Amino acid sequence: MSEMIQTVLIELTVNGRRRALDVAVNHTLLDVLRDDLELTGTKECCLVGECGACTVSLDGRIVDSCLVLAVEADRAQVTTVEGLAVDGHVSPLQQAFLDKGAVQCGFCIPGQLVAAHALLAENPHPTVPEIQEGLAGNLCRCGCYQQITEAVLATAEEAAR
Ligand code: FES
Repeated sequence: MSEMIQTVLIELTVNGRRRALDVAVNHTLLDVLRDDLELTGTKECCLVGECGACTVSLDGRIVDSCLVLAVEADRAQVTTVEGLAVDGHVSPLQQAFLDKGAVQCGFCIPGQLVAAHALLAENPHPTVPEIQEGLAGNLCRCGCYQQITEAVLATAEEAAR
């Protein structure tokens, strides 16, 4: 016999668009983004808050969306990697990742980009240690940390011109 899972109506704004949907009380924000809203840029990996592949911005704060229940995101503002593009084009940060060869397999990149975007919003001129600390929650199994750091530095330098 299948168990009935209770659902709750939540409203949230995702990448500037208001959404209202019924979510199962045991579903995470990651589930809702990927499965209900089909925003599959946010990646599902460890599901225990270790890897950062599921990183999104929640009311301006960086979170592992696998650790946030969807009901906790009620009335929140969420930004995913899909929300970083500017007028349908990659953002300067995304372009810098490409230019610096920071993308190898690419799986961690959406989370890295969301975290780096938030870092630059808070600290437009980060030092290398500050970038390393800011992205410490985002693991890259290809080991592209140096290129990722260079991409963030290049973005900050370009913005300062
Ligand atoms: Fe959420 Fe790894 S999938 S931190």
